[in-house]
Amino acid sequence: GEAAEIAAKISAHYVDNARQLPWRVPPHRSQAGERPDPYHVWLSEIMLQQTTVAAVIGYFETFIRRWPTVTDMAAARESDILAAWAGLGYYARARNLFKCATYVTEKRDGIFPQTESELLELPGIGPYTAAAIAAIAFGQRAVVVDANIERLVARLHAISTPLPAGKKAIRAAMDDLTPEDGAGDFAQACMDIGASVCSARSPKCAICPVRSHCRAHATGKMEEFPVKPPK
Ligand code: ADE
Repeated sequence: GEAAEIAAKISAHYVDNARQLPWRVPPHRSQAGERPDPYHVWLSEIMLQQTTVAAVIGYFETFIRRWPTVTDMAAARESDILAAWAGLGYYARARNLFKCATYVTEKRDGIFPQTESELLELPGIGPYTAAAIAAIAFGQRAVVVDANIERLVARLHAISTPLPAGKKAIRAAMDDLTPEDGAGDFAQACMDIGASVCSARSPKCAICPVRSHCRAHATGKMEEFPVKPPK
């Protein structure tokens, strides 16, 4: 069907255009079955929650050099983690980081659980982060929806229900698109297109691999989606 065709175009675009980020396995190695370190995926996803990719990269490198494993992080002083976090903002994330590292080390033998439902039990891990880790680190078919994916999908289907109610239709559409295999790369492909092509302002439809499927592009009303709640 059309969903499979859209998904195939997004995945093919990722093979040639994936951003090289220090927590990622590049698509050719990922397709050969290589997975990133769950600790790296967890740390990057927590850092990326309220901070841009450009700002996160240096902090991520510093953290994994200083604390190479989740057990190393659990052995740190909380004050050292908070100090290393300085500049990233939203310090509750850094306290939860330490809590989660301690929990995984003490309660789970230093091994991250692999399913969305078990990941949700960890301190500081909500539905978005659980889905992202399950898909990216463990190859599970989880439906990942962040703000970039929300914008891409809302435009593709011209979803007219205003946010937040429209999130339900957006999630259902992303569920439809997400492949059985390679859900992690697919989610990251959608994030990259959302960030670099399907930008909030002046989207670059001329270079979009799914322009011909996009209902918003068909009417020239890309920037009207996702529809914001009435003020
Ligand atoms: N934002 C949140 N998670 C991300 C990821 N894995 N890659 C790029 N941007 C992201």
